[in-house]
Amino acid sequence: MIGLPDFPWDRLTPLKTLAGEHPGGIVDLSVGTPVDPVPAVVRQALADASDSPGYPPTYGTERLRSAAAGWLRRGHGVTLDQANVLPLIGSKELVAWLPTLLGIGPGRRVILPELAYPTYDVGARLAGAEPYATDGLTALGPERVPLVWVNSPSNPTGRVLPAEHLRKVVSWAREHGAVVASDECYIELGWEEQPVSILHPDVCGGSHEGLLAVHSLSKRSNLAGYRAGFVAGDPALIQRLLEVRKHAGMLMPAPVQAAMAVALDDDAHVIEQRARYAARRAALRPALEAAGWRVDHSTAGLYLWASNGMDCWKQARILAENGILVAPGDFYGKAGSAHIRIAVTASDERISAAVRRLQ
Ligand SMILES: Cc1ncc(COP(=O)(O)O)c(C=O)c1O
Repeated sequence: MIGLPDFPWDRLTPLKTLAGEHPGGIVDLSVGTPVDPVPAVVRQALADASDSPGYPPTYGTERLRSAAAGWLRRGHGVTLDQANVLPLIGSKELVAWLPTLLGIGPGRRVILPELAYPTYDVGARLAGAEPYATDGLTALGPERVPLVWVNSPSNPTGRVLPAEHLRKVVSWAREHGAVVASDECYIELGWEEQPVSILHPDVCGGSHEGLLAVHSLSKRSNLAGYRAGFVAGDPALIQRLLEVRKHAGMLMPAPVQAAMAVALDDDAHVIEQRARYAARRAALRPALEAAGWRVDHSTAGLYLWASNGMDCWKQARILAENGILVAPGDFYGKAGSAHIRIAVTASDERISAAVRRLQ
């Protein structure tokens, strides 16, 4: 049996029960699950493609790959041939399986951020490799590592890694023979800072060798329920992943492929969704600060990374007593033990309730 950590949110059940006892009901800000509607154009595209009796292509339709490449070019200054895009059944699937798909096994270290989405660690363990959380690559010395994960904007901190920082990661990885996998699922949600893709020429010098960018439509398009993401980058790596995924049956349903292509072509719904999150963030942040919390980083993404100096579980309990459920920072690594993560993904009505309760 592979040793996996406890699923962090299971540990939150007692605080969820406590928050649920509030007379005004729970305000659940503990997970980043979208609550706003799936855009009408996307729903229509899904319905129009519902008569799909045959197996879909693992590689994705050319229409889908072109839409992804077009969006990367239009929105993020990345030039990439559509052949170097591969659809994912949500990006979590690749985060959990990339080390396995790349053939990384026992005795190898997979590098992940000190404060991170827990699935990078899980993915290393599933492959039998060793997860190693560090923000200091140079301390690793001459060791050759197979894979380095970066995540900007970060879950949980909302921190953006500037192009210069990413450039250093790429050059370190190229010297050490490592693949860099960049989880960019929050790239559309820059507030005070604009995130940059690992595939941008300012970061990678125009070559995508050894680089993979992982994208998700869950947050930008409210498609978490559809399971829609893609990976793009190094042609040789994409072909390798495709080969294994074909054998393993990791193929995105055809109606979702059709819906995702339409979602990637349409910028209007993203602008609308961004405005919703901006307003919720603008309401919640000052209310938290007035209640004694300091917000760190959080210049992009869907979360406020906050601390009032206490232990994270104590902070989460204080808020749960007021009917607000948040994620304790130690879900994301030891370095998070004095922080909480507050998602801005609740409805306007629930965010207003949280603001009132913080007063
Ligand atoms: C950093 C990060 N990566 C990946 C995912 C997975 O997203 P999805 O599988 O919905 O594309 C999430 C979800 O919250 C996330 O926070």
